[in-house]
Order: sequence, then structure tokens, then C-alpha cells
Amino acid sequence: MLTVQTPAKINPVLEVLGKRPDGYHELALVFQAVGLYDRLTFEKKTGGVDLRVESPAGLAADDSNLIVKAAKLFSREILKSSDGVQITLHKKIPLAAGLGGGSSDAAATLRGLQWLFEVPVSEQKMHQMAAQLGSDVNFFLNGGTALGTGRGEMITPWKASAPLWVILVKPSEGLSTPAVYRSGRALMTIGDRVRELQKVWPEGSPASIAGHLFNGLEPAAFYLRPELKLMKERLMAEGALGVLLSGSGPTLFALAAHEKEARKIAAKFEGEGLEVVVALTVSTGVQKV
Ligand code: C5P
Repeated sequence: MLTVQTPAKINPVLEVLGKRPDGYHELALVFQAVGLYDRLTFEKKTGGVDLRVESPAGLAADDSNLIVKAAKLFSREILKSSDGVQITLHKKIPLAAGLGGGSSDAAATLRGLQWLFEVPVSEQKMHQMAAQLGSDVNFFLNGGTALGTGRGEMITPWKASAPLWVILVKPSEGLSTPAVYRSGRALMTIGDRVRELQKVWPEGSPASIAGHLFNGLEPAAFYLRPELKLMKERLMAEGALGVLLSGSGPTLFALAAHEKEARKIAAKFEGEGLEVVVALTVSTGVQKV
């Protein structure tokens, strides 16, 4: 039996560069892993893939789950037909949040099966399978901090910054990624925001990094869900150094100067039906525990 943990992510910068002929958007985005983890266990069995969801209740454990898709893909491309696996999922990363939870679980499944069966698979092959599963999956294979280009699946590692204190605030209602992209309200930029962040990363203070946050999907998400803009203003008024939509939302992340400040800000948002998490950025991806 093998247990792994796999982190959530935020995007300090997400630039939409243009629309592609294949319907996807060309992106330049920075991924940063955050210490909020899903846990997956893997056990060998004969033939087939079984997923058991320990939490949350109601999450589909069938072929629509990206974990099952990842396990079947790995099995088809790498394993012998007699090899099967029992997977158990314990989720902490909120669903449909813009925190990459589903993608992180998919990457954890690819790594988990690679480690469980001790089969030699090249990193190029791991990345090729990850890209088939979704645009964010590649990042989580190694995690930490990285630049994503193309659909987001082409990964260039960046050095880690000093750990940053982050407050994640997620409204109960999710937001559909395709709806955000389709709204026609994304702000297109030319890659300059990534370059500006790169100048202050990794040595920059939390305040200087906060001054370079940018997400071209924010106007689209704020158009679809105006209450998110009000929430951002409230987080700033409570003392956050900077606040940004995470990925395609609806989670907002706020940067705080230190832990005490982060917990003070988070406390202001408790008891409102929101999911509020205080976490540190981390320099890892999928890991054995
Ligand atoms: O790749 P993934 O399955 O995560 O993408 C989900 C949806 O998000 C896509 O179907 C597309 O509508 C949108 N998307 C996009 N451009 C990207 C990534 C995602 O338009 N680079």
C-alpha cells in the first residue's frame, strides 16, 4: 500500500494571450503550490481500477472522475493487463474552486501508480499523459513554483520564494471554467505581467509580490459573480497585501504579511457559509507520506 499527498495551487499571474483554433486559450501563467492537501492511497489488486471516495460525500467515483481517467490511462499505456489498483481518496481541496484539486488528484494518480508498480516511465511520457488529462495536471507532477505556457501544460520550473502566508476564501457555489472562458470578458495581455512578476520573484517581499498579482480571467469571473468583487474589496480593507481570483475561480486568495495577520483576516470571514483556509506556499508537488 502507498499513500501520497498532493497540494492545491494558486496563480499569482494568469495571462490570457489569445484564443487558439482548437478552442483553448493560449496562456502564460505562474503556478504556486499551496500547503492544502488531498490524500490518496493505492493498493495493488488483480485487474481493473476501483475508486473509493472517503470524502466528500457525493463526489462521483465513476469514469467521470479524473482519478479514474488517469488510472485507466496509466494502466492502458504502461501496465500489464493483469495489474489493477484500488484507490482511496480523502479530499481537503475544495471542488470546482480554481485551486486545481481535480488536476492535482490526477497527477497524484499518475505518480502513485508509477511508484506503486515501480515501473520505469520517462518524465516525457509522464508529462504526455498528464497533458491528455487536463491543462493543469502537468504542474502538479513536480509542483513548487512554475511558469505554464501553451494551454498551461508546458512547464518551466521557477525558484521558490520565501514561503508566503495565503488566505483562501471560497464561496459555496462553484464556477464553471468553460463558462468563465466563454463569457468574452477575459482581459487579454501580452506576457508582460509574467515578466514583471519574474523581476521580483523569488527574492521579493510578500508586499512586492502582492503588488504584481494579475489574472486576466478576473473581469470575467466578476462579471458572472459580482459578489466576488465585493469580497476582494473587503479582504483588502481587512489588511490583505493583495487579493486575486485563483485560476478561473471562484476562490479568492489573499496574501498576508505574516501568520498572525493571515489568521486575523481569515477570522473576519468565518461563519458566512464560506470555506476559509489559511495556508503557506510550498515548494513540492505530489509526495509519498
Ligand atoms: O484542460 P482542461 O480540461 O482543464 O480545461 C477545461 C476547460 O477550460 C476547457 O474545456 C476550456 O473551455 C477552458 N480552457 C481554455 N484554455 C486553456 C485551459 C482551459 O479555454 N488554456
